[in-house]
Amino acid sequence: MDQTLTIALSKGRILKDTLPLLKAAGIEPAEDIFKSRKLIFETNIPGVNLVIIRATDVPAYVELGAADLGVSGKDVLMEHGGDGMYELLDLDIARCKLMTAGKDPKEPEGRLRVATKFVNVTKRYYAEQGRQVDIIKLYGAMELAPIMGLADRIVDIVDTGNTLRANGLQPLEEIAYISSRLVAGKSAYKNKHHMIQPIIEKLSKAIEAAK
Ligand code: ADP
Ligand code: PRP
Ligand code: MG
Repeated sequence: MDQTLTIALSKGRILKDTLPLLKAAGIEPAEDIFKSRKLIFETNIPGVNLVIIRATDVPAYVELGAADLGVSGKDVLMEHGGDGMYELLDLDIARCKLMTAGKDPKEPEGRLRVATKFVNVTKRYYAEQGRQVDIIKLYGAMELAPIMGLADRIVDIVDTGNTLRANGLQPLEEIAYISSRLVAGKSAYKNKHHMIQPIIEKLSKAIEAAK
């Protein structure tokens, strides 16, 4: 029986909230992740490794079986498409909303121009409303697009609303509630169930305790 388990963690803002949950599930990195340039870390449990990767890359590793478990924002899962994975738990961290925003709610004449890094989610959202829009793919600082006249709307993460306010934008429609999720590859879930199930149980307790 395969006794190894690789967990893909999103680096960036999710990581520091993920580690205490993993600790509660009995998994601790063998060295300080934040003080190292390494990408793969052994843990206190022989055979269990953590890999630290870009948030948007986690679904690819999990779906294709290179990692067995992953921690990923629901926004990233929605954008990637979640069919190749099982979403096992809502970790209740990095809570925010995926929203449309703009300078004002008034609709411009003609086709709406929407800037976002969430191209697939945005296409789906407006298509469900029967609206044709022009999507402009950006990689960050979406809030700049309406100010610069590049787009009428953005689709982006909103938490406190500070970034929107600081840039003279208003939150408009809520597309989805977002938090980070534990995901498993389908074959990993089947073949490593004996290792994954106890982790799910301990994580569930830690999530409840943190509420
Ligand atoms: P990226 O560099 O891809 O933007 P982040 O570390 O900023 O990665 O974000 C990782 C995840 O954290 C996102 O996919 C989202 O689920 C969540 N997130 C992003 N921004 C915020 C925020 N301002 N507040 C809470 N959660 C957020
Ligand atoms: C995220 C998101 C918004 C901001 C929202 O950006 O893309 O810009 O946080 O949070 P707020 O509502 O609390 O202001 P982030 O800081 O992750 O920057 P980046 O992803 O563009 O690097
Ligand atoms: Mg970010």
